[in-house]
Amino acid sequence: MSFNNILCEKADGVATVTINRPDKLNALNHEVIGELEKCFADLADDAETRVVVLTGAGEKAFVAGADIGEMANLTPTEAEKFSARGQALMDRIENLGKPVIAAVNGFALGGGCELAMACTFRYASDKARMGLPETGLGLIPGFGGTQRLPRLVGRGRALEMILLGNMIDAVDAMAIGLVNKVYPAEEFADSVGIVARAMAGKSPLTLRVALKAVGEGLEMTQAGGCRLEAALFGVCGSSEDAREGCQAFMEKRKPKFRNA
Ligand code: COA
Repeated sequence: MSFNNILCEKADGVATVTINRPDKLNALNHEVIGELEKCFADLADDAETRVVVLTGAGEKAFVAGADIGEMANLTPTEAEKFSARGQALMDRIENLGKPVIAAVNGFALGGGCELAMACTFRYASDKARMGLPETGLGLIPGFGGTQRLPRLVGRGRALEMILLGNMIDAVDAMAIGLVNKVYPAEEFADSVGIVARAMAGKSPLTLRVALKAVGEGLEMTQAGGCRLEAALFGVCGSSEDAREGCQAFMEKRKPKFRNA
């Protein structure tokens, strides 16, 4: 599948999706959003893809937001539809059933920060800058940012970022739990690749089930989440991959997982 604004390269079980509109700092216009919808639908069904890395082209940006030019003259109905479409894309990425690592290589602002937050977790280069500047445009975050940011960093810090609309650097983003780890820019792609390939070596079934346990469990009471965990442990525990993983440990060899 080829796109005008996205590159998708696959190797070693890892699909690297690069938003490729560097002259506009990879801003999300309708075409990019449509291509991301198609690309992630394809990746969901692609058995060879076990882990996805999402990043931005060029030296400056992950994604500098939704395309401001396209948002300048929306009617209320159009604006609501735009928000719902963006939210649906974020939900698709969050619920892909495979880990999606956001490799935040530069500015991740507005819709770009929301896109990163919809990923399973985030790594940042030391050049990254993150924020939700929408209030400065007379808007609020509309791709799930008002919901995911407080869940990630807490209500007070989220409201400070949303109401002030300021940018924070990668180290501050890590300090508040918005990113998991910061790497020097020159080692960034290689470092993220090492983690992604290590994860792609696990059983895809296990990754899918662990994502479900955490994702759905967070929406439940702890007791309900533990019941879900036990049921999902039952699914994993009876799988061929569990037999292979435990057998390989006892035989002191690397497991060969089959996603079954
Ligand atoms: N939508 C549309 N175009 C955007 C964009 C966005 N969100 N962010 C950047 N661009 C475009 C700029 O208009 C410029 O295009 P041009 O060369 O045709 O004029 C190009 O990308 C480069 O951006 P520029 O502003 O010149 O780069 P900079 O290094 O001076 O500043 C930023 C970088 C990220 C600080 C600045 O581009 C910015 O504030 N962008 C908007 C961020 C934002 O508010 N995002 C939330 C949107 S909901």
